[in-house]
Amino acid sequence: MTMAETPAPPIALLAELTHRCPLGCPYCSNPLELIARDAELETETWTRVFDEAAELGVLQLHLSGGEPAARRDLEELVAAARHAGLYVNLITSGIGLTEARLDALEAAGLDHVQLSLQGVRAGIADRIGGYRGGFDRKLAIAQSITARGLPLTVNAVMHRQNIDELAETIAFAADLGARRIEVACVQFYGWALKNRSALIPSRRQVEDAKRTVARALNEYRGRMAIDFVPPDYYADYPKACMGGWGSTGLNITPDGTVLPCHAAATIPELRFQRVTDTTLDRIWTEDPAFQVFRGHDWMPEPCRSCSRRDVDHGGCRCQAMAIAGDARQTDPVCRHSPARRLVDAILADVDDTTAPPGFAYRR
Ligand code: SF4
Ligand code: FES
Repeated sequence: MTMAETPAPPIALLAELTHRCPLGCPYCSNPLELIARDAELETETWTRVFDEAAELGVLQLHLSGGEPAARRDLEELVAAARHAGLYVNLITSGIGLTEARLDALEAAGLDHVQLSLQGVRAGIADRIGGYRGGFDRKLAIAQSITARGLPLTVNAVMHRQNIDELAETIAFAADLGARRIEVACVQFYGWALKNRSALIPSRRQVEDAKRTVARALNEYRGRMAIDFVPPDYYADYPKACMGGWGSTGLNITPDGTVLPCHAAATIPELRFQRVTDTTLDRIWTEDPAFQVFRGHDWMPEPCRSCSRRDVDHGGCRCQAMAIAGDARQTDPVCRHSPARRLVDAILADVDDTTAPPGFAYRR
């Protein structure tokens, strides 16, 4: 696509309603500098944004955070989004939800819940989440969600300190009555990047995890869907991040900043607009920060003449920034990238025979 063409509409909007969260997961993709409560968008502004998103063509709304249940107007926001005609998915730790709030969310038209799972036992789950008692509360809420017949997906972020329990994690989600589990190996942005040495799994762990997933796909076929996101540092080619920059979805931060992906603000050359400055439609179609990595024009070699350029779109711009210090480079994960040696150097330092360093929690 050239810069002058009108982009196809986005499919999904991720609304980060707040950065507040009772948990402090060390792999959180939120930025190191969190947005304060008094800078959060008000109910009326989110309501307008949902209307604009639906008009623009967005179909799915993911309400996220932080912990979206920290917003007292969550039920009102769900109702507003449904009124706009959006499919509404709540991405939550479960902490802050109660029976009464689930009643209200159901009445407001909530379509789907994605519940994070830090571990399969209280000890490890509460240590990773940095919140004592969180596991038991999460379990109770998960049971209530499935008892109501609300579709549940379990989001299990896997890393060095829990990936050896992957089989138990999948079984746990099935026992909860989840329709789907997303087993996502940690991606290194935000707090996860800061905690990378404590979180990065070893090659042995990754190979074991792939075998576990292959077995589980057979075992749970027809009962529960399993999506596996392997750790891309160990891959030969990068992921097609966001399906290509500015092509399938957008993110809005708690203060209304509109981003092409959750980590885009780590790219210092880019300036982003807010929903309070202009309309979502204008941002999607005209904002230079959305145009800059669309299509092929921006691509350096080897991507520009690569047969995979429409498969992975040159990989992830934020990963190129995080590892190579240059968002315009080929994703360093790619075997053809001149920066691949940087990823190999990170992997060479992974040693699962010694105790991992302690976590830096996000508060
Ligand atoms: Fe993808 Fe670029 Fe690597 Fe080709 S060279 S596989 S387009 S990242
Ligand atoms: Fe920003 Fe991948 S997270 S492009």
